[in-house]
Amino acid sequence: MSGYLIKTLLAFLLLGAAFTAFLSMMARFGRPGDEARSNRLRRLHKTAGYVYIALVVPLVAFGAGFLVEMGDGLSPRGALHFVLAAILIAVLLLKFLTVKTYRQMLRYAPGLGMTLFSLTLVIFLITAGYFILVSAAGK
Ligand code: HEM
Repeated sequence: MSGYLIKTLLAFLLLGAAFTAFLSMMARFGRPGDEARSNRLRRLHKTAGYVYIALVVPLVAFGAGFLVEMGDGLSPRGALHFVLAAILIAVLLLKFLTVKTYRQMLRYAPGLGMTLFSLTLVIFLITAGYFILVSAAGK
């Protein structure tokens, strides 16, 4: 199985974890319900959040391998993917430190979480989304 195919499969799983983490907290804060529902959504968010972090590790490792292989020969789309991925790692680190270590800053967690979700979706669309589009067009 090629590195690209493994990365695309991991990208689908990452997008699934991002959607689950995103929608669970949007439902918890955006359409509040009873305490039991709020705790259920928070647990779902925690699980999806750690699955997300676990999937980012091999994706970064594969990306680093491609980067070493291609060096400055990256396409504009590849370069954009690299920069957006670096921003995603920075936002993920900020989000984790905010909710785990500096809880007085918890009010920033929703904004950081929404940014994390948007970055994940954009990176997915310009990579896996692009491959699907090009393959479907038979190119
Ligand atoms: C891809 C998107 C996201 C990922 C990967 C993610 C990941 C995480 C992780 C790993 C935690 C720590 C869980 C724990 O140890 O308790 C967490 C907590 C939290 N997240 Fe997210 N998150 C995302 C999106 C969001 C969104 C969209 C919001 C709000 C609208 C949000 C709000 C929070 C809050 C408030 C906490 C702290 C929960 C608590 O301890 O009470 N997150 N998130």
